[in-house]
Amino acid sequence: MRELWKRMAAERAAQEVSRGMVVGLGSGTTMAEVVKILGKSRVRATFIPASKFIERIAKKRGLRLSTLEIHSDLDLHLDGADEVDPRFHMIKGRGGAMAREKILAKAARRVVIVVDKTKLVRRLGKHAPVPVEVLPFAVGPIRKKLHEFGKPMLRVRSGGRPYLTDNGNYIFDLKCRQLSDPQKLERELNAIPGVVENGIFVGLVDELVVGHEGGVSVFKSGKEMAEFL
Ligand code: A5P
Repeated sequence: MRELWKRMAAERAAQEVSRGMVVGLGSGTTMAEVVKILGKSRVRATFIPASKFIERIAKKRGLRLSTLEIHSDLDLHLDGADEVDPRFHMIKGRGGAMAREKILAKAARRVVIVVDKTKLVRRLGKHAPVPVEVLPFAVGPIRKKLHEFGKPMLRVRSGGRPYLTDNGNYIFDLKCRQLSDPQKLERELNAIPGVVENGIFVGLVDELVVGHEGGVSVFKSGKEMAEFL
């Protein structure tokens, strides 16, 4: 069921892309669906992928790729999310790509987020921990500091070695004690020396595309989404 909702939302989100646009592509399984649909549509746009994972799929599907060095302003950024709340704040980064995703979202004139309805929450932190990308050199002091916010777990690969981001860094998944002020938490986490970026996204959503049992809904504000919840 969830896979179908995801695909329906991906179909709708792909329609946001038109000829000549420069478009950021976030990472994750929902975005993989979007990329496959864009490949089939053969739309003549230029895309900047947030991860090696999505870059591979985009290349295979024949999308024209570029970089932020060449295009520093984007018309649109398309992305998935792990949780979205009624203020349109999000947790992202289960796929480990949140640093590049946030850079792309901030460089874009419009950000469209694509989810199935299981990602909608009344309050952030319901299911998802907050991913925090850190320099491996700083892992010890950062772990100690993160205990002030909740329970940090170093993300590991199968075999027990630390998971590495596309930037060559580690990730702590932080189960927060409380997440009532995402803006403050985002700021405080990023102020720790050695933290590269965290998965809290504040005020970056222009449009939310949600797949659900009744079809696809597009919300332009958190208030609209809250009525649906
Ligand atoms: C990637 O790092 C994430 O931010 C994804 O956008 C997020 O985890 C959603 O992924 P799925 O579409 O796979 O649920």
